[in-house]
Parts: sequence; structure tokens; C-alpha cells
Amino acid sequence: MALLSISSLTVEYQRAGRTIRAVDDVSFEIETGTVVGLVGESGSGKSTLALSLMGLLPRNGAVTGGSILFDGAEMTGLDEPEWRTVRGRRMGMVFQGAMNSMNPVRRVIDQVAEPILTHETDMTKADAADRAGELLSLVGIPADRHPAYPYEYSGGMRQRAGIAMALSGRPAVLIADEPVTALDVIVQARILQLLEDLQEALDLTILFITHDLGVVARLCDRVVVLYAARSVEEGTVEDIYDRPKHPYTRALLESVPNFSRGRGKSHGIPGAPPSLMDPPAGCRFHPRCPRAMDICTSVSPARSRFTATQTAACHLYEEEAGGDG
Ligand SMILES: Nc1ncnc2c1ncn2[C@@H]1O[C@H](COP(=O)(O)OP(=O)(O)OP(=O)(O)O)[C@@H](O)[C@H]1O
Ligand SMILES: [Mg+2]
Repeated sequence: MALLSISSLTVEYQRAGRTIRAVDDVSFEIETGTVVGLVGESGSGKSTLALSLMGLLPRNGAVTGGSILFDGAEMTGLDEPEWRTVRGRRMGMVFQGAMNSMNPVRRVIDQVAEPILTHETDMTKADAADRAGELLSLVGIPADRHPAYPYEYSGGMRQRAGIAMALSGRPAVLIADEPVTALDVIVQARILQLLEDLQEALDLTILFITHDLGVVARLCDRVVVLYAARSVEEGTVEDIYDRPKHPYTRALLESVPNFSRGRGKSHGIPGAPPSLMDPPAGCRFHPRCPRAMDICTSVSPARSRFTATQTAACHLYEEEAGGDG
């Protein structure tokens, strides 16, 4: 059975009297000990989905449909005391921008020790500091740097410290929201290597969130592609890189420098993602899609299954391209 099973998950925000559906009917599973990449452009709902898995949606946001099963137990509808037994313990999260969100006036080791003291009430301060030191060493920060302040760390070291904090409750699942964005390529590669090593050493299950398909190939087993709050394609890394089906997945791949064919031909995807306040009818990608057909402007595509591992929601692959909607 999958460790995390998300089905038909829908998350909405209320803002200025309007509803923004930031996650719309998304389903996927994460098997124990595997890494799933969640990929999509800015605003596609990646962080919203992650926050809903941790019970951390802001007050104006709520899960309005679907289910989140973690280790067989339903997470939607938990109250705050129940969430506290899960969050930071069985599930840990590296937050988007974690690198810059450390408290500037507290030593790093104390900041890593703090959640340990909160979770494990029978721990002494000295024991928590020992454990924090072990975690910082585990993520590759030498012992003489543990007592430093965050400003004395490089961006890569701060991100490592953020990962140490996320691991402090010995979680089974680690949710990492854009952990390498904003780092230079060499530091990115080192953090990815660290996550790969930790995954193996601790048998972690990881949800790895990024807008850059280029960084998921090495770490991930499966990839879920989000576009404007909806999942448009899902498959193994090989499915997604070697035989992408959805025109959006193809466009994302072409925007990765290493994967695009002609040298120097890397480019962003033309046009911008839609506002989720008023998303396009039919397939949400149709205004930017090079293969759009009439039906795409009005009918939402159903999911087609290609193999046991790969699905995509695109009218190009539906048996009856005419549809009846
Ligand atoms: N607190 C909020 N209140 C209202 N709308 C929000 C809130 N947070 C996010 N949204 C909206 O929800 C949608 C999804 O945002 P989200 O942050 O989940 O996207 P993302 O994929 O993580 O983007 P990025 O790559 O920029 O981090 C966006 O349209 C965003 O404006
Ligand atoms: Mg985000």
C-alpha cells in the first residue's frame, strides 16, 4: 500500500469574496521509500498542495474535496492537536524559502534543537543539543560551524540546516518545497546529492517540489506534472523524459537547457499561466498549446492511460476526439 495516497484533492482559498481553486481534483500516490517530483510553473498550486499535506494551510484556505491517506489514516478533517502528532514528526517539511527564514539572532544549533524539545518532551536541553548536532553533521555541516549564526552560513549551508530541522522529528515522509531553487548549479547538485543520500540512509519517502524538470531526473522515481491547479501528466522519470505525452510536459522539457535539442535554444514556455481566479474553459493549457484543437477550448480532457505507469489528460489521446461535452 502507498504510504501517502492523495485522491481527488481539491483546495480552495477565499480572497476578496472570490474563490481560488489552487488544487483541483489532483490524485497521486507515493510508495514507501520512493521519491515523487511535483513539477509545474509558478502559481500552479505546488506549495498549496504541500501545505495541505501538512495541515498548514492559511486561514483563508481549506481542503474542500478529496482525501489524503497517510499510512492508511485520513488526514483531511484532523483537528489541530491531531495534526501536531503528525506534523514535524511523521511528516517533515522543508519550506519554500526556508533558506532565508531562519531566525537571524539565534544560533543554528539552537534553532535545530528547538523542534526536538517541542516534540520529545522528556528530552533534556543537552540531549536535544546533541541530537541537533548529529543532525547538522548528518546534513554535512562540520561541528565547529554548528554554533554559528545563520548569516555566517552560505545559502547552501542554510538550506542544509533547513533540511536538518525538517528531519528533527525522524519523519517517514519529507516534503521539500523548492529546496534547490535560488541556489547556484553546483550547490544545487550538492543538495540533491544530500537528499539522495539521506533518502537511502533513512529510507525516507520524499515529495520533491520544483518548477524545474531539469533537477528531478536524478532524484525522483515518479513525476507528477501540475498545470494551473490540475495534474496533466504522471509517470516514471523515464516516461516523462523519454516519452512525454502532454504538450505542457514537452514544453517544460524544452525549457530545460540540458534537454532541449539545439544548443542555446532553451526558452521559457511562450505565454503565461492563467489566473486561477478565472481559468480558461476546457483544457487549461489550450491558450498556450501548439497542438490545441477546437475541442480543447471547451471540453476538459479525460485522463488517458498509456501504460501501467503513465497517464496524461489531453484530447490528442482520447479515443473519441469529438467527445460529447
Ligand atoms: N494565502 C493565499 N490566499 C489566496 N490565494 C493564494 C494564497 N496562497 C496562494 N494563493 C494562490 O493559489 C495559487 C497557487 O499558489 P501556490 O503558492 O500554491 O503555487 P506554487 O506552484 O507553489 O507557485 P511557486 O512556484 O511560485 O511557489 C496561486 O494562484 C496563488 O495566487
Ligand atoms: Mg510554491
